[in-house]
Amino acid sequence: MTAFVGPVIDVFLHPEDLQRALANDVREGLSARPKVLPPKWFYDAQGSELFDKITRLPEYYPTEAERSILAEHAAAIADLSDADTLVELGAGSADKTRVLLDALRSHGSLERYVPFDVSESALANASKMIAAGYPGLTVHGVVGDFDRHLDVIPRGGSRMIALLGGTIGNYQPLERTRLLERISAQMDAHDTFLLGVDLVKDPARLVRAYDDESGVTAAFNKNVLAVINSALGASFDLDRFEHVAQWDPVNEWIEMRLRSIEPQRVTIRAIGITVDFAEREEVRTEISAKFRRNRVCAELAAAGLEVLAWLPDAAEDYALILSRKP
Ligand code: SAH
Ligand code: TRP
Repeated sequence: MTAFVGPVIDVFLHPEDLQRALANDVREGLSARPKVLPPKWFYDAQGSELFDKITRLPEYYPTEAERSILAEHAAAIADLSDADTLVELGAGSADKTRVLLDALRSHGSLERYVPFDVSESALANASKMIAAGYPGLTVHGVVGDFDRHLDVIPRGGSRMIALLGGTIGNYQPLERTRLLERISAQMDAHDTFLLGVDLVKDPARLVRAYDDESGVTAAFNKNVLAVINSALGASFDLDRFEHVAQWDPVNEWIEMRLRSIEPQRVTIRAIGITVDFAEREEVRTEISAKFRRNRVCAELAAAGLEVLAWLPDAAEDYALILSRKP
């Protein structure tokens, strides 16, 4: 009889740690001009659930586009990578991941899955579901921030490191360069990197994807204020802010903001500050950059990675890129 071996989860982000980092970001971000809040704070348990709802919205095409590419090319990706370990950065609910795991299992190389996420609740759920669905697979989850804890990812064997969902687009250009460099720096000779990028397209479609009819994206954006309320004892009234999503044609990114509907003062007890908002003053919360083939391949090359395969969907809305060190 073989005993069921549950997932192992390493936690590198503890509540006090998170609170300290959030307090720093909030103190800095809300005293900057314009005000800004970093995007990783969207993802508490509620935020991860809201994001999961976003992935099922009719307007939000990236998830289905990425799934269709995986369905068509996962076998080729498995062959090219020959990976025994799938490391997934920002795994979220790890739903699409099954397509990759299935392909690696058919290829015969799969041994280990390492989901990595800031959201402990999302990570615990995903690890449990995947462990239950793939008997014999070692599931080793890591709760961490890939801006700080990339070096704790288990090494050895041949790993495929995946960063899906267009998450790379949520980084500012300079931070994006650094993230790619850090991922490349901890890759060994047999490792590959699978990157999912959303492509430049009709701005009207893009704006709809980030400002849906049913208001789920608005609720997701505002959730960052709820996170600050509960973690730092702040007094944000979510109803006094509105969700803004705009296409920036120069930078080719969607920019998400929260706009104060009226003049207001908010207190943040844990850091002992008050923050004033003018009528219509905006806080920048997130960008979602859209890519072009030449530019993103050049960015990978600059990080020391050679493209093995460029895999767009049929409509060329989205692409997966498999790369490795030359
Ligand atoms: N891969 C999933 C989820 C994408 S959403 C999909 O394609 O649908 C982005 C995910 O990255 C969220 O689960 C979020 O919690 C995680 N994340 C965002 N910033 C992070 C950071 N700095 N470190 C670790 N995880 C992060
Ligand atoms: N990686 C996702 C994207 O850029 C994250 C995302 C989707 C998002 N919708 C959002 C982030 C709305 C903030 C607000 O597509």
